[in-house]
Amino acid sequence: MRATDLAPRFVQLHQPSPGLSHPALIEGLMQTPAHVSPKYFYDALGSRLFDAITELPEYYPTRTEAAVFAQHGTEMARHVPSDAVLIDLGAGSCAKAARLFPVLQPCAYVPVDISVDYLRDTLAALQQRQPELPMLGLGMDFSSRFDLGPLACDWLADRGFAQQARVVFYPGSSIGNFLPHEALALLCQVHAVCQAGGAGGGLLIGVDRIKPRAALESAYDDALGVTAAFNRNLLRHVNHLIGANFMPAAWQHAAFFNEDESRIEMHLQAIGAQTVRWCGGERRFDDGERVHTENSYKWAPEAFAALLREAGFGDVLHWSDPKGWFSVFWASA
Ligand code: AVJ
Repeated sequence: MRATDLAPRFVQLHQPSPGLSHPALIEGLMQTPAHVSPKYFYDALGSRLFDAITELPEYYPTRTEAAVFAQHGTEMARHVPSDAVLIDLGAGSCAKAARLFPVLQPCAYVPVDISVDYLRDTLAALQQRQPELPMLGLGMDFSSRFDLGPLACDWLADRGFAQQARVVFYPGSSIGNFLPHEALALLCQVHAVCQAGGAGGGLLIGVDRIKPRAALESAYDDALGVTAAFNRNLLRHVNHLIGANFMPAAWQHAAFFNEDESRIEMHLQAIGAQTVRWCGGERRFDDGERVHTENSYKWAPEAFAALLREAGFGDVLHWSDPKGWFSVFWASA
């Protein structure tokens, strides 16, 4: 087989390059307090910085979730159908899903990620290692609306997979980036995508839980400063997208647990007053003024199970680690 035969099909539905206007981004920058969506963390460097975060001793979610899969994977596989279309939301490096292939034996793999170039590279490498598994990469922003779209549906139909069950895999507690009402809206859309496939489909989702403040806060403010770099890299990405002149070194990383809202918040705090300019606008920031860059909600398992049912899912099963720090749910469509 030639190397080109192993190239996965890739559909790019998201155009991350500069030159377009980014009205929502600029609107958030102009508000008081200013905010920027966490989706802007994930340019190619940001995706790599996130991968580095997952290896930090303080960042328990990735490792704890992996332990839940290791301990309960066999039991999960009794409920999650094999031979399904595995749809991986926020796939990134595709590493988590690839580890499930031997257990779940999917008929096709459809990773979705906003970091288009990063996904294109990681998926091409994965396809080389798994030449016989059909793969379709979807470079798209699913944060405001998620469906597979006609191109992906045609791709599935062409391969005879239109009636296969669909398993949506959403690991890592990325659902925590959404406000509860937004999370509900996304889960409703995921439910619709699962239901459009064959019987037995559903959602396999990792959700981070409420735990002592010290453990939460050190996970988002590590000793090496990788999370700080990840946070500041957002400014580089924004500079690139809208032609802004943010100086990353003039912004301090801040992360804390907001217990009333049950979420970690990350902010960038101005070190000294400064005026930031971009194509068509500018904004002055006072010394100490913040840009809110991320919420990472921590859920109680009962509350998250209720959210899944509200989104239309049927049976909800749930597994956790011995400390109860992280939960994996299987919600059948
Ligand atoms: C990818 C959204 C799950 O909230 O823990 C890691 C992102 N931010 N460190 C998280 C993140 C800071 C991460 N999610």
